[in-house]
Amino acid sequence: MIDISSQTEAALAAIATAETLDALEAQRLDALGKKGWVSLALKTLGGMSPEERTAAAPAIQSARASIAEALDAKKAALEAAALEEQLARETVDLTLPAVAAPKGSVHPVSQVMDELAEIFADLGFAVATGPEIEDDWHNFTALNMDETHPARAMHDTFYFPDRTPGGPASSSEAVGQQEREILLRTHTSPVQIRSMLAQGAPIRIIAPGRVYRSDSDATHTPMFHQVEGLVIDRDIHLGHLKWTLETFFKAFFEREDITLRLRPSYFPFTEPSVEVDVGYSTEGGRRVVGGHGDAPGHAWMELGGSGMVNRRVLEFAGVDADEYQGFAFGLGIDRIAMLKYGMNDLRAFFDGDPRWLAHYGFSPFDQPTLSAGVGARA
Ligand code: DAH
Repeated sequence: MIDISSQTEAALAAIATAETLDALEAQRLDALGKKGWVSLALKTLGGMSPEERTAAAPAIQSARASIAEALDAKKAALEAAALEEQLARETVDLTLPAVAAPKGSVHPVSQVMDELAEIFADLGFAVATGPEIEDDWHNFTALNMDETHPARAMHDTFYFPDRTPGGPASSSEAVGQQEREILLRTHTSPVQIRSMLAQGAPIRIIAPGRVYRSDSDATHTPMFHQVEGLVIDRDIHLGHLKWTLETFFKAFFEREDITLRLRPSYFPFTEPSVEVDVGYSTEGGRRVVGGHGDAPGHAWMELGGSGMVNRRVLEFAGVDADEYQGFAFGLGIDRIAMLKYGMNDLRAFFDGDPRWLAHYGFSPFDQPTLSAGVGARA
């Protein structure tokens, strides 16, 4: 006959000192398993007389209950300790810098567009946009280039060969103009027309974006970027245009000695038309904007076209040309980006080479602000 109470005491002591769940399981099997001593003791009850059984059973039952309870309590304690240990081991230090994370960078074209918006916003300009898939009315006709105008041929336009039913030409906007051809816009000037039709005069906007021409060499890519400017109000004259461009370029290149030259030119949508040149010098093999283009060691570089908006354009866009006039300009964004940041091959802008981006790209934290000097590298 086994001594239940000393067996129980020994089992409870072993359970109390068990250090692992495995050790605890061994104790459970030893006492309560099929062949455990408690189970065996319970089995002996079957062969006893009722009196013997009444005398022996309570001790065995209470041994089983107290051992089961101790096992449960110890199991819970060991599991809680294991969880604590795991949590301590798997702690993540969120304050560590993410050194291993892949680094992206902001493309110089995006950066320059942000710089443009920042500078022109300060001059009271809003940013407007228009579709890159245009129709020939907005891209040409309303800009005073009718079907036979020779300037159309100079634009190397990508036309869409088939205008499918249900496409842009049959949208409600174009009802009645089924003859409109669909193309990739060749310049940002159609945004002038769209903005005037949408909001009328007075108006003061810039419109940066992608434009497309079938052209490709070291200084031309089939897709490139322009920024259009448009100011329409009462009593606007060429002096306003010159001041606006000078003020913009001084802020953009972050220097005061910017000299602009306005050369007579021709664009169907402006009258008079001028081309805008800026003085630059070559320092250390790199073109640096500043100074007078006719000074020794200096030259002029063409940055874009501009002029007073032709009254026919105002009429196409529904603006009263007797009451309002204004100026417009169109600048090559990639070109002024190259001048400011020193790249010499336009094609590399659109190759997507990560080494080029790592070198010429900007940190997303490097937001252009006038107070910090637009485009200043952190
Ligand atoms: N749209 C012209 C081009 O891409 C550039 C231009 C010239 C825009 C004169 C203008 C302008 O707004 O007034 O070649």
